[in-house]
Amino acid sequence: METTEANERPKILGGCMKTRNVQALVADHNVLPADILERYIRPEMAVDDVLLENNSEEIPVIDMSRLMDEVSMDEEASKLKFACEDWGFFQLVNHGVPEKVIEELKEDLMRFYDLPLEKREEVAQLPGDLEGYGQAFIASEEQKLDWADMLYLFTQPPHFRNYKHWPSQPPSFRDSLENYSNATQEVAHCIMGFMATILGIKRETISEIHGSQTVRINYYPPCANGHDKMIGLSPHSDGCGLTLLLQVNPVPGLQIKRNGKWLPIVPLPGALIVNIGDALEILTNGRYKSIEHRAVINAKEERISIAAAHSPSFEKTVGPLADIVGKGTPLFKSVTMPEYVKLFVSQKKIYEKKMVQLLKLNP
Ligand code: OGA
Ligand code: NI
Repeated sequence: METTEANERPKILGGCMKTRNVQALVADHNVLPADILERYIRPEMAVDDVLLENNSEEIPVIDMSRLMDEVSMDEEASKLKFACEDWGFFQLVNHGVPEKVIEELKEDLMRFYDLPLEKREEVAQLPGDLEGYGQAFIASEEQKLDWADMLYLFTQPPHFRNYKHWPSQPPSFRDSLENYSNATQEVAHCIMGFMATILGIKRETISEIHGSQTVRINYYPPCANGHDKMIGLSPHSDGCGLTLLLQVNPVPGLQIKRNGKWLPIVPLPGALIVNIGDALEILTNGRYKSIEHRAVINAKEERISIAAAHSPSFEKTVGPLADIVGKGTPLFKSVTMPEYVKLFVSQKKIYEKKMVQLLKLNP
C-alpha cells in the first residue's frame, strides 16, 4: 500500500494477474472446452459431500427494529450477543435500508451485467491494483480459479472514491451505489453500537474505528458442466470488521462453516446477512468470532451478491481494545491499519481466519 498524502486514498497494491471474464466465457460457449474447465475444477471442494446433514440449526435472525425499541431491546440484545459469540453470522431484518435504495442498486447492477464485455471492462482493474472489475488474489498461471467476476470499489469515506472504477453505465449506477453505501454504513455503525454496549464498552468505541467501507460485488455465472466441483468464492473469512451481504437475486450459494461442516444459508426476503470479520475478532480479543464461509455456484442460474465490508480507518490501529482486555491478556498483536492491509494482500491468497492467524500472539 502506498500513501502520498494523509488525505489521499491509499492504493491497495497486490492486485492480481488478469484473468478471463467468466460471464463472457459462459456467453461464448455452450459447453466449456476441457482445457478451460480444468482451471476451475477442484475435486477437493466437492460441494455435496461436506454439507451439514439433517441440519436443524438455523442461523440467528436479529430484528433491528426490536433492538431500537425499549420494550424488546434487552431480549433482542441477548440474541445479538449469542449470534456474535457463537455464530459470527446472522440475518438482519427490519434494518432500515429503504427498499427503494436496494431495488435501484439491484436494477442498475442487472443493467451493468447486461452490457457487452467491452463496456463492462471500461472499469476493469488496472495492473497491480485491486480496485475495479476483475478478480482478486491470482498469483500464478497454474492456480485454480474461482468461478466469479468481482467489482471491487472503495465507497467510504467519500474522498477515497475513485470514480474511474465506478461504472458510468447505466447512468444512475453511481447514485444508486452511493445511496446504498451510505445506508449500509449507517446500519453497520448502528449494529456496532449495540455490539459495544453488549461488550460493556462505550457505545461509539467500535463504530468510531470503522470509518472505511469497500464494496465487493460478486457475479457468479451458472455452469452446466462441473458446477459441483467448482467454487464461486474460495473458503475464507473476511479481513474487515463487519460485512453486510445482500443477495441481489434469490439464488442461494452462501455456505458457512459450522461445527466443521458447511451450512447453506438461505436469506430471508429483504434481509442483510451480517458477519464478523477478522478485524473485529482481533479488536474484541477473541470474544467475537470471524467465521469461514464460501460461495458455491448453480448449474442453471447466475447469482449476484453485494458485500459491503466495514474496516478500521487508515489512521487507526487494529489490536485488542484496552477496555475489553482489561486486566486480561491480549491474544493478538496490534498493528496500524496500513500494516494490516499490507499483510492482508502480501499473502496473495485468501484463506480461513488469515489475519487472526497472522496476528495471534504465542501461537
Ligand atoms: C464476500 C463473500 C459471499 C457470497 O464477498 O466476502 O463472502 O455469497 N461473499 O457472495
Ligand atoms: Ni466473505
